[in-house]
Amino acid sequence: MHLSTLLLPLTWMDLTRGLEILGLLRQPLSNISDQIPCVQNTTSTLEDVVACFDAYTVPEGYYSNATYVAAQPNVEQLQDWEELVSSLLFVDGNCTSIIVPTSIAEIYNVSLFTDTAGPEYCVASEFTSIDGVYAKGWGLFVVPATRNAVLRDIHLAAPHPAYDLLTPEQAGALFKSTGARSLLISGRIRTANLAPSDCVIPSSNTTVYYKTDPAHDTAEPFFSASRTIREWQHANDGCPAQSCAFIQMHGKGATSCPTDTMFLSSGLGRSNASVAWYTDTVDRPIKRLKTHLMAAFPTWNISLPSDSDCSLTATDNVFGRLVNGIAEQLVCPDASTAELVTGEFVHIEQAIISRQAGVYSEWTAALLATFAPSVGA
Ligand SMILES: *[C@@H]1O[C@H](CO)[C@@H](O)[C@H](O)[C@H]1NC(C)=O
Ligand SMILES: *[C@@H]1O[C@H](CO)[C@@H](O)[C@H](O)[C@H]1NC(C)=O
Ligand SMILES: *[C@@H]1O[C@H](CO)[C@@H](O)[C@H](O)[C@H]1NC(C)=O
Ligand SMILES: *[C@@H]1O[C@H](CO)[C@@H](O)[C@H](O)[C@H]1NC(C)=O
Ligand SMILES: *[C@@H]1O[C@H](CO)[C@@H](O)[C@H](O)[C@H]1NC(C)=O
Ligand SMILES: *[C@@H]1O[C@H](CO)[C@@H](O)[C@H](O)[C@H]1NC(C)=O
Ligand SMILES: *[C@@H]1O[C@H](CO)[C@@H](O)[C@H](O)[C@H]1NC(C)=O
Ligand SMILES: *[C@@H]1O[C@H](CO)[C@@H](O)[C@H](O)[C@H]1NC(C)=O
Repeated sequence: MHLSTLLLPLTWMDLTRGLEILGLLRQPLSNISDQIPCVQNTTSTLEDVVACFDAYTVPEGYYSNATYVAAQPNVEQLQDWEELVSSLLFVDGNCTSIIVPTSIAEIYNVSLFTDTAGPEYCVASEFTSIDGVYAKGWGLFVVPATRNAVLRDIHLAAPHPAYDLLTPEQAGALFKSTGARSLLISGRIRTANLAPSDCVIPSSNTTVYYKTDPAHDTAEPFFSASRTIREWQHANDGCPAQSCAFIQMHGKGATSCPTDTMFLSSGLGRSNASVAWYTDTVDRPIKRLKTHLMAAFPTWNISLPSDSDCSLTATDNVFGRLVNGIAEQLVCPDASTAELVTGEFVHIEQAIISRQAGVYSEWTAALLATFAPSVGA
């Protein structure tokens, strides 16, 4: 018998024990890389697909500073992500001709998805998960697959998945039911990196904005996508007050502004000039929305900053500031003013009751009544 045959069992056991003590054998089991299967599901609706992706949202405290930096797009990837968002907005029956730009081709896929109820969508989505979490978490972007399916020039977005519960599902359902032009959902909970943002510094010392909060940090790819959507809309059909808006769905806790079921804002607070903007006789999207939501939900309190002292006015929302005339390089430090505000930004804070699937049809009626049909339709 050869000497090595005698020695092998012992050597293997020692090696195994040694590796186990070092944790090297167990570690690969906790880093399972998988294809995300949501968009390939042929027996699901768009709402199912949105809920399926929602489960991959990067969770609270997931990132260290180092893993956060590794998950951020580099300069080229960020440009390519914006190009991808723009190319989806141009889609008209040619979703499958989109070629994902090289620097993000190993991260994002573009898929034509057919809802079991009939409508078709063009979906840009991340395709790899690690241990059940998006490998990057830059976000999900969806448009109708053809232009004739666009009924309203409105863009729906959910910046706070997993935190403002049910807002991704609500934004997805309302995008579909109103024939909106686009749907954007962040892939990270706002607390995914618990390090504080160095973009917007809150005025209250009891508030913390985290690096992965796309409402308050311009480094989040959700912000770049939002900016691209706005630029596209302005460069193509424009954004007239009668028919167009950029809408963010948020959710508030039960103890936050408890008497407001919904609190609507265009990103202005309640300085005298701002209150005048909300209360003057000029027709504005936010005022029409309030009127139609009150008709749809007659027993709820639906307020503007001019009606309520709720603090959730969104004056420090970075995309809101951009829409409201602040130069991009100044949206971290500077708030907008009543002289600059455009009215195109619609920020909706809601109690949980307003986010339930049972009230989607009332919501749909209110949005359809608020916005005139798409200019291009
Ligand atoms: C694998 O996952 C563990 C925690 O689950 C993490 O500490 C480690 O860095 C991961 N390894 C790689 C290569 O991502
Ligand atoms: C496809 O979607 C349906 C509806 O959400 C779900 O019940 C089913 O489990 C999904 N199938 C797969 C393979 O994920
Ligand atoms: C992470 O970065 C932030 C600033 O960006 C810093 O305040 C914090 O101390 C860092 N955390 C660690 C653990 O290095
Ligand atoms: C899809 O069609 C639209 C409208 O004709 C066009 O503007 C766009 O460039 C096309 N996209 C691709 C990827 O071919
Ligand atoms: C997504 O793209 C990658 C890289 O091109 C490819 O390997 C994968 O099969 C694609 N997945 C789907 C569902 O198309
Ligand atoms: C926060 O600010 C208040 C009033 O400005 C002050 O009284 C309090 O000490 C501050 N708290 C902390 C933790 O800095
Ligand atoms: C509406 O507001 C009033 C007065 O602030 C309050 O008493 C009432 O409970 C609120 N209703 C709801 C449904 O929140
Ligand atoms: C704001 O309006 C109130 C009531 O009309 C008035 O008393 C106050 O002086 C105004 N404040 C400023 C800064 O103009």
